[in-house]
Amino acid sequence: MNAQAERRQRGGEVGVRALEAWTGLQEHCRAVEPLHLRQLFADDPKRGERLALEAAGLYLDYSKNRITDETLRLLLRLAEQRGLPARIEAMFRGEHINVSERRAVLHTALRAPKNERVVTDGTDVVPEVQAVLERMARFAEQVRSGQWLGHTGKRIRNVISIGIGGSDLGPVMAYEALRFYGERTMTFRFVSNVDGTDFIEATRDLAPDETLFIICSKTFKTLETLTNAHAARDWSLRTLRDERAVARHFVAVSTNAEGVAQFGIDTANMFEFWDWVGGRYSMDSAIGLSTMIAIGPQQFRDMLAGFHAMDQHFRTAPLAQNMPAIMGLLAVWNSNFLGASTVAVLPYEQYLKRFPAYLQQLTMESNGKHVTGGGERVDYDTGPIYWGEPGTNGQHSFYQLIHQGTRLIPCDFIGFCQTLNPLGPQHDLLIANVFAQSEALAFGKSEQEVKAEGTPDWLVPHRICEGNRPSNTILAERLTPATLGTLVALYEHSVFTQGVMWDIDSFDQWGVELGKQLAARTAPELESVAEPKLAHDSSTNALIRRYRRLKGTGAGARA
Ligand code: F6P
Repeated sequence: MNAQAERRQRGGEVGVRALEAWTGLQEHCRAVEPLHLRQLFADDPKRGERLALEAAGLYLDYSKNRITDETLRLLLRLAEQRGLPARIEAMFRGEHINVSERRAVLHTALRAPKNERVVTDGTDVVPEVQAVLERMARFAEQVRSGQWLGHTGKRIRNVISIGIGGSDLGPVMAYEALRFYGERTMTFRFVSNVDGTDFIEATRDLAPDETLFIICSKTFKTLETLTNAHAARDWSLRTLRDERAVARHFVAVSTNAEGVAQFGIDTANMFEFWDWVGGRYSMDSAIGLSTMIAIGPQQFRDMLAGFHAMDQHFRTAPLAQNMPAIMGLLAVWNSNFLGASTVAVLPYEQYLKRFPAYLQQLTMESNGKHVTGGGERVDYDTGPIYWGEPGTNGQHSFYQLIHQGTRLIPCDFIGFCQTLNPLGPQHDLLIANVFAQSEALAFGKSEQEVKAEGTPDWLVPHRICEGNRPSNTILAERLTPATLGTLVALYEHSVFTQGVMWDIDSFDQWGVELGKQLAARTAPELESVAEPKLAHDSSTNALIRRYRRLKGTGAGARA
């Protein structure tokens, strides 16, 4: 029995749960549970303005959370006891805080200004970052201006970014989010799924001699990406019929120059990044090349400036005024003390339609961990499930459960005061819905109110909305490249804060490896003509046999 198990058997808590602030929060939670947001707002007419923060152009109203001043005091105490300020500094200073991979975590260096020094392992990484940004800018301008020609001398009109996970979700999300600012004469597509449909549909109406592929893979080993990259190469060469065409139609973004060369892409056409950039933290590295081609280098720099503004705030603001820290602490409160197991992210901005999907990787690959940094099994919940859809669509689908279901689902509402596409009364209607939803969730509709509307008695229970359902509202002036950077950095640092509270490594992702290994073992069993000897469990064996039979290769397929 290890020391942790022994202590637990003796009845003592270990680690995070032993902290005085944690036990204080548990105790305090009993006092908060019976409180209703209606009462909390009635008792403090200024609550809505008091429990709000402004940073780097974002406004966070967190007053509609089920918290009191004492909750905040204890959460801030927890942050102190968990050493959050020192952990923030350790990250920014390039210490190896990704303990299981023994790496620094320096996505913040990707957006550091040119004159800043960020040293890790004895090297100032800022000049390297800036050099890659300049190469990206030169290339992006060449493609945008038509100087970069395809193999047959035609200008590039289509860009297809191939990648998966962090090498895809950021670029797709940013492309969609910043479409308003993008080059409309060009077509941008993204291929990630190893399902052939993804590639076929992305290319079916495009001409290979006008199409540039950006192969994005940190490791350049990912099965899906390499399979799609080979499909892209075949597709191009089927028409272009000359190996030399690869040099004009393929570029790579990777940390693995050898892998890129082996694939057949000249490393002169490779844009580099570094092992201290995690995949899900890489949309502002060269992985964002498609974004830069779409919006141009200057607007890409504006986006980096937005990220940096939030980085600076996170690094320097006192915890009580620190927006990502407060958001992260509230997430811990909702999840570990109020028992919420999910968070709904609800952007009221059509351009942010892929933002929830992007956040799913950022939050769940980062904080879906079951052991501490030191390798001990945690005995508390870690990362909640993030999900969402743009408003108002979700209102006519899953909001019912948020309003009247039996589960507590904290919501993040995201809205902008100015629309990019004015159209009659639409923007006011959109934003009225943001405010109405958070109001309805917080305050609900009481029995008395329902009855006062003349509702027949039998219908009253159905119409009651209990309220007391927590939400954050994030408001910004307008969706711009800079605002997007600020918003993403806000969530990155909130995720980091949560990881520090839970004492986990938010920067590894060992859990995804097992499935990859098993798929590598299973693929040949599906492909082989000879009946394979199967040694899986009886369920997997039966599924494989059935698949082989129906696809036409298995035993008895032609019987
Ligand atoms: O399988 C998960 C993962 O490793 C992610 O963390 C990463 O973003 C993605 O795969 C893609 O990896 P790569 O960029 O190396 O192809």
